[in-house]
Amino acid sequence: MTRSEPCIVLVGLMGTGKTTVARLLAEHRHVELLDTDKLIESRDGRSIREIFAESGEATFRELESEVLRECLARPGSPVIAGAGGVVVREQNRAMLDHARDAGSAVVVWLHARPEVLAERTAKGVHRPLLDNDRMGTLTQMSEDRGPLYASVADIVIDVSDRSIESVVDLLVAALDEQEEFVGNDHE
Ligand code: S3P
Repeated sequence: MTRSEPCIVLVGLMGTGKTTVARLLAEHRHVELLDTDKLIESRDGRSIREIFAESGEATFRELESEVLRECLARPGSPVIAGAGGVVVREQNRAMLDHARDAGSAVVVWLHARPEVLAERTAKGVHRPLLDNDRMGTLTQMSEDRGPLYASVADIVIDVSDRSIESVVDLLVAALDEQEEFVGNDHE
């Protein structure tokens, strides 16, 4: 699809602040905010935790792929908060790559050290994968998924020691720079 401006997709592990950063960025850009977890819950009528418990992770991942596809096809230039696992399936990474190649999406990887994430994910009910050994799980996920996030990311921000506001400021600056670069490219 062609857009006047690309959509922005935030990816990264649980606890990196994707949801809040996406909300603030959408406000800043005056565009629609989409959140894959919320869309899954409203479509399915069950919470993420219920979907995992009653239907299993594979069903959740199916729903996640469907919702990601729809988000990327959405008109306008929304900011999309992708859930931590959106990069796990090869088909999702292909969708992201396709959108990036078409100039229709910019993918931002919010990255943080596992110990920071373990602290930040202490609250919140929609993360059944962290029910046991949160620190160990996040460390393993960081190792397993790091290369996957890196493979789809146009912009990487280490959020470990930054406030949400400074992450948003950095991101706005990085996007401006990128849009300027893309603009120059077409001159
Ligand atoms: C998951 C991340 C969660 C949620 C689910 C699985 C993952 O979303 O989709 O618990 O596999 O990383 P957030 O990244 O928004 O916490």
